[in-house]
Amino acid sequence: MDIKKKINNLVEKLKKWEYEYYALESPTVSDSEYDLSLKELVELEEKNPEFRNIDSPTLRVGGFISEKFEKVKHKIPMLSLSNAFSKEDIIKFDNDIRKELSENISFSYSLEPKIDGLSISLIYEDGFLKKALTRGDGIEGEDVTENVKTIKYIPLSIPFKDEIEIRGEIFFDKKSMEKVNSISEKKFVNARNAAAGTIRNLDSSIVAKRNLNAIMYNIPESIENNLFKQSDVLKWLKHNFFNVSKYNKVCENVDQLINEIKWFQENRETIPFDIDGIVIKINEISLYDDIGYTSKFPKWATAYKFPPKIVSSKLIDIKTSVGRTGRINYIAQIEKVKIDGVAIQNATLHNFEYIQEKDIRINDYVELYRAGEVIPKIIGPIISRRTNECKKFICPKTCPSCNSILEKIENEVDLYCNNKKCERKIIESISHFVSRNAMDVDGLSIKIIEKLYDKNIISSFIDLYKLENKKEEIISSNLLIKEKSFNNLISQINKSKGNSLERLIFGLGIKHVGEVASKAIAKKYLSLTNLKNITIESLLEISDLGDKMANAIFNYFNDCDNDELINSLINMKIANEYFSKWSSSQISNENEIYRNKKMVITGSFSTSRNEIKPLLEEMYGAKISSKVGPSVDFLLIGNNPTTKKIEEAKKYNIKIIDKEFWK
Ligand code: IVH
Repeated sequence: MDIKKKINNLVEKLKKWEYEYYALESPTVSDSEYDLSLKELVELEEKNPEFRNIDSPTLRVGGFISEKFEKVKHKIPMLSLSNAFSKEDIIKFDNDIRKELSENISFSYSLEPKIDGLSISLIYEDGFLKKALTRGDGIEGEDVTENVKTIKYIPLSIPFKDEIEIRGEIFFDKKSMEKVNSISEKKFVNARNAAAGTIRNLDSSIVAKRNLNAIMYNIPESIENNLFKQSDVLKWLKHNFFNVSKYNKVCENVDQLINEIKWFQENRETIPFDIDGIVIKINEISLYDDIGYTSKFPKWATAYKFPPKIVSSKLIDIKTSVGRTGRINYIAQIEKVKIDGVAIQNATLHNFEYIQEKDIRINDYVELYRAGEVIPKIIGPIISRRTNECKKFICPKTCPSCNSILEKIENEVDLYCNNKKCERKIIESISHFVSRNAMDVDGLSIKIIEKLYDKNIISSFIDLYKLENKKEEIISSNLLIKEKSFNNLISQINKSKGNSLERLIFGLGIKHVGEVASKAIAKKYLSLTNLKNITIESLLEISDLGDKMANAIFNYFNDCDNDELINSLINMKIANEYFSKWSSSQISNENEIYRNKKMVITGSFSTSRNEIKPLLEEMYGAKISSKVGPSVDFLLIGNNPTTKKIEEAKKYNIKIIDKEFWK
């Protein structure tokens, strides 16, 4: 037989076996028979690379080394889900939907386990897997295609030949998770972290070895592909070789829904993968547009979250640490205990008052829970198990990093280290400055920041912008930064100069100032130079900005110790673009007609909804609403608008504007 034919036969055979094993869960051959044929194919392809198929199962072995993961914009934003925590929340969810729809429209629910992993978007073209993107911030994800190709639960080719996007979850099932933690050097705190860490590994052969799983559950353009029900989407996925959860159910009404959820809650342990709740979706996709969206979530789906599991363990000690604002954190060290298969040794205790109020003592047995987030929380002591060995925790007087006397601020429960030179505070503040939601400098871990700080290469975040001149020193001083990653780092740092002012303000780490406040401040003041001349009165004009925050912002910009830092940021033109983007000259009188007017959007646009909405709100001052009603002023229509919305707009005499508006 000629080599090409032999290779093709092996590929077809292996693909069939993978489908039987991973999608149908009914293998027809033993693992060793699969491995043997795969090995034969690897060898044949090595000798005859010209005959290698683009969907060859040898891709499952990995071997591709990425330099970094390219950021790619999602064609349709990847939204997340609202949460429901009780039976009442589920009933409300059902009632709210009925209110959005005309009377007598009947619908059913698709119920799916909420897999605790990370979402992935797969693009198939001509039947082949072309791209795999992580969710990222929902708008832009990372291209992890080579790593995803090693996941055997994801088909490399499918029968459907048009372009299509498929979404689902990548995760470790319970068995593989145990294996990963028993063999890999690094111990992961939970299955989701392990999956997220693995999918971003630069070496795809490591990904291949870890045996990630994948379940698919969504086709964003299902209507365009003539799939009008979620249950049809799931059938289509199965038919096209994808792994689909066998726990999915269709429910006709809320009572059935609640009964099914109860079943899941009671039988959670028997499911071979971790689930942290149940996703409830309206089964009729054709109703989605009428039910609508909020800025973050679809209103036609919600995630019911299981109540957290409570376990008990012994509190061995309480350690303190200092954060970027100088706030003292209290970390409980407990005897190792497992929650959902994850070994826990640390838990948070909030603040000193919490420890006092709950009378939590060292050596106490305590109850704790983990609700999604990585660090579990201590609920309180089990008084019946208290012994003479239990001793009260003494409030710390000095900073665990710099030893300076801690201070309590009036009306605040926390203790603070106010030493501006406290090393830990500086390191934490630099780490915050470069974090994803602030200046987003990829590749600058806290470990590297610590090293650069220890070697006196940086002493504040402004020094990052001078790092380029210290290349020799950094590479030669054994800081674990090789030339290539140094160059990448510099290009990331330079890129961050063009960030928005709101990111910069958030990155400064001003006490009490989070992302929402940073955005409001940026919008009002437009530049750092303007911020240097602020007054408390003008700050208080910002709605939702209270005294505490206004004072903190005012103090930050009037503290002469910050002068040099702010002037340097201004001189280096960091986040300067924002000024020109939002400056008043851009907002012409013509667009003023939308200011404070209520607007509803329907249909799709070349720019994503998530971008259009803030633009309308911030540039044009419009108020976006999801439902057409008598108080609405404008209906903005894009491609394929909902006819119901247009009819209603006509009924209420609402002015209709079309997408030409953007030109
Ligand atoms: S649907 C707009 N279905 O949960 C629809 N999500 O909190 C978005 N997830 O980001 C997702 N299992 O990563 C959906 N059967 C399922 C899911 C699921 C797990 C994750 C997903 C999503 C998050 C939302």
